[in-house]
Amino acid sequence: MFNKFVIAWLLCISAAASAKTVTPDLVELRQRYLKPPLQWPKATLDQELTGQELGLLPLPLFPKNNPLSRAKVALGKKLFFDPKLSRSKQIACASCHDSDLGWGDGRTLSFGHNRQTGNRNAPSVENSGYYHQLFWDGRASSLEQQALMPITNPVEMNFTIKELVARLNGDVDYPKLFEQAFAGSKNNEINGDNIAKAIATYERTIISRLSSFDRFLLSPSQTHPRRKLIFNRQFSDQALWGLHLYRTKARCMNCHGGALMSDNQFHNIGLTYYKRSYEDLGRYLATNDKSDVGKFKTPSLRGVMNNKPWMHNGLFSNMRGIINLYNMGGPRNTYDASDDMAPKQSKLLKPLQLNAAEIDALLAFLTSVTATPARDSSMRVMSTLADESKAAN
Ligand code: HEC
Ligand code: HEC
Repeated sequence: MFNKFVIAWLLCISAAASAKTVTPDLVELRQRYLKPPLQWPKATLDQELTGQELGLLPLPLFPKNNPLSRAKVALGKKLFFDPKLSRSKQIACASCHDSDLGWGDGRTLSFGHNRQTGNRNAPSVENSGYYHQLFWDGRASSLEQQALMPITNPVEMNFTIKELVARLNGDVDYPKLFEQAFAGSKNNEINGDNIAKAIATYERTIISRLSSFDRFLLSPSQTHPRRKLIFNRQFSDQALWGLHLYRTKARCMNCHGGALMSDNQFHNIGLTYYKRSYEDLGRYLATNDKSDVGKFKTPSLRGVMNNKPWMHNGLFSNMRGIINLYNMGGPRNTYDASDDMAPKQSKLLKPLQLNAAEIDALLAFLTSVTATPARDSSMRVMSTLADESKAAN
């Protein structure tokens, strides 16, 4: 398996060396990308609908049945960091979603109760409020629905909601905190629903800081000339070229488009390991639809350099290796033609013929969309939302 990738990689390097570099006029390209996105060079998209334009993340939206409040965010944060949510009282959500590790856990696969390992890599929870479905296979359709699943998962926190509710009711602080967080609602007691609502509300406030790409996007609107210049120049020529490639020749925009840099869809990029030791059927496990075998949710690439190792199985820890794989048009898997369960790789993957300089530029762009992980953005989000609603009134 490993050898197969090494060979593929070497193939790529030699292919890259022979392709000729055509560096675009970067001064002109910068001018074009300083214009509003509608006036940017046209992106190379196979399906116009999915390839939404890149841009600044909007403020998070809070569902009507679970509105934002300071007390609820504070409660959700306390719950997120509290190991009492696990049977052993040793594992918190934050054990596997650690802000110092890009809100993931830095491991290939996570381990939880009794150091048992799960079979997937922990994604970052930063910006998770912008996904339509949660988990690599999308089996949860809201953060509220997702939040209780790790608590009862035997290899994660291995607890039951009933026991957790009893434990929290016996605590000195929690009963009061739930009352405050759900004041005004008919039901302000400690129960699974409210635990999930508080955690989900806190998670919606974990959003990434401005990256140097975001600053570049903001530079035309800066009134202070020095700031305008700094915001523009922080985004290097190499990253700018990478942005252009991302949207055009490298085709990343076909799936990693939009402000989130994810289309919120599921695709098969050939990492199913079908009938091999790492087999993971992905989206199929949530839908039972054979055409979903091997599809995984397109992860957001915002902050991607902070969230190593990568992919649903955490088997990739070299970003150049990932780009080399895309450059080949994905892994070369062959399956028995008569097997109707066999995974079908996305047609959106095609050999790209990127040369070494172009691969470096893409890497520079991925670095430019990575800001330092947000430590606690909840205060910032709440004060911005408060300012906005004041301005609206
Ligand atoms: C033992 C490690 C571990 C613990 C503890 C844990 N998680 Fe996770 N988390 C994971 C893994 C692994 C996944 C991916 C699982 C999958 O996709 O099947 C995940 C996925 C998620 C996602 C989905 C992100 C996305 O992009 O789809 C969210 C949100 C999340 N966890 C929040 C939480 C919350 C809230 C808690 C505490 C109640 C928690 N996690 C506890 C390991 C953990
Ligand atoms: C066909 C849709 C598609 C295209 C095109 C695509 N990706 Fe992906 N990308 C995905 C999916 C789906 C995953 C998750 C796959 C998995 O874990 O098995 C992924 C995962 C990744 C990851 C791992 C992120 C993480 O947090 O684990 C990186 C990095 C990445 N893609 C970069 C790129 C780049 C760079 C390009 C352009 C060269 C690109 N992708 C093109 C769909 C796509």
